[in-house]
Amino acid sequence: MTETTTLPELTVLGVESSCDETAIAVVRNGREILSNIVASQVDLHSKYGGVFPEMASRQHVLAISPVLTEALAQAGVTWGDIDAVAATYGPGLAGSLVVGLNFAKGVALAQGLPFIGINHLEGHIYSNWLADPKRPDAPEPQFPALILIVSGGHTELVLMTGHAEYQLLGRTLDDAAGEAFDKVGRLLGLPYPGGPHVQRAGEKGNPQAFDFPRSTPGEFDFSFSGLKTAVLREVEKFTPKGNPSDPRGPTMVRPLPVENLAASFQDAVVDVLVERTVRAAEQYDVKQVLLAGGVAANGPLRATTREAFEGGHVPVFYPPLILCTDNAAAIAGAAYWRLARGERSSLSLEVVPNLRLVDDEGRTTKDER
Ligand code: KG4
Ligand code: ZN
Repeated sequence: MTETTTLPELTVLGVESSCDETAIAVVRNGREILSNIVASQVDLHSKYGGVFPEMASRQHVLAISPVLTEALAQAGVTWGDIDAVAATYGPGLAGSLVVGLNFAKGVALAQGLPFIGINHLEGHIYSNWLADPKRPDAPEPQFPALILIVSGGHTELVLMTGHAEYQLLGRTLDDAAGEAFDKVGRLLGLPYPGGPHVQRAGEKGNPQAFDFPRSTPGEFDFSFSGLKTAVLREVEKFTPKGNPSDPRGPTMVRPLPVENLAASFQDAVVDVLVERTVRAAEQYDVKQVLLAGGVAANGPLRATTREAFEGGHVPVFYPPLILCTDNAAAIAGAAYWRLARGERSSLSLEVVPNLRLVDDEGRTTKDER
């Protein structure tokens, strides 16, 4: 799509249920958020230290109708104002995705509205196009843009050459960045999800206290499993060993230095994310760097990325905190740009739990629309 194309006026209702958030939003023209309701299940899952898939899907079933009512009411719209319905169809938990996707297809059919399935990762990317009430005059991101997608399940460096046009430059070979935060959070005895708690603990710690490995495989790929194991090895040094009822008494152990471990781990993650991003931005001569996904909420990652590009000609954008983690405004926003290209999905669209943004041949993944 060229800059001179006249874009349509479209109000889209978006549905997101790929993990443990039941979310519905109404967004006008891919930018203006009229409502953005997120019913989080985090309290339900935190006692298990992670998402319990069966409970997540049942909770989506319970929450989704009230969330829709609230999303329409908060937006101050009726069905007559909605032009299309969008829903996440992957990647994510199959049992969770199926609830939101089928609900969205059902309302689209009942209301006689066009329907479109959206890749969850594309939603994260398009959070950067949503208007930030704190920066209403912020310019739209420019192409080519480099996107660092960092979520609970994915870590990818993507070159975006136009709307819905992607080229995968690198990805994690093992754990995702968010997954590493969550696993390290658990090792440090912090609540689920680990990311924000590790950040908070790290604020009081010394990032140089532990010299954790910085793995940089391939040209633009990532690997976090060695780092996670290195944290585990340190944690083990502080864990009591042997039988506590041993007559010689318990092994003396020092308290776990949670704050220093959190700060040092986070520093290693941020270092490699920023190093890869800077290299790719230089090589592809991009006009823009965008952060996307839950880990884009991380304060040190946001600040360090901005600092790395300071003084240069490449502006760094990231969504407001509330739009970094899972939400449906992102899905409705991404849907706008695909609808504007004339795309629609069939109502026979199924969920694809392991969907990728770009396939092995470098093509943007397409559903059977
Ligand atoms: O994008 P998201 O909401 O869900 C997925 O698509 O996976 O990302 C969730 C991930 C979790 O791993 C969570 O720990 C992480 O984002 N996260 C953070 C922060 N806030 C959320 N990681 C580091 N620092 C944060 N402040
Ligand atoms: Zn997500």
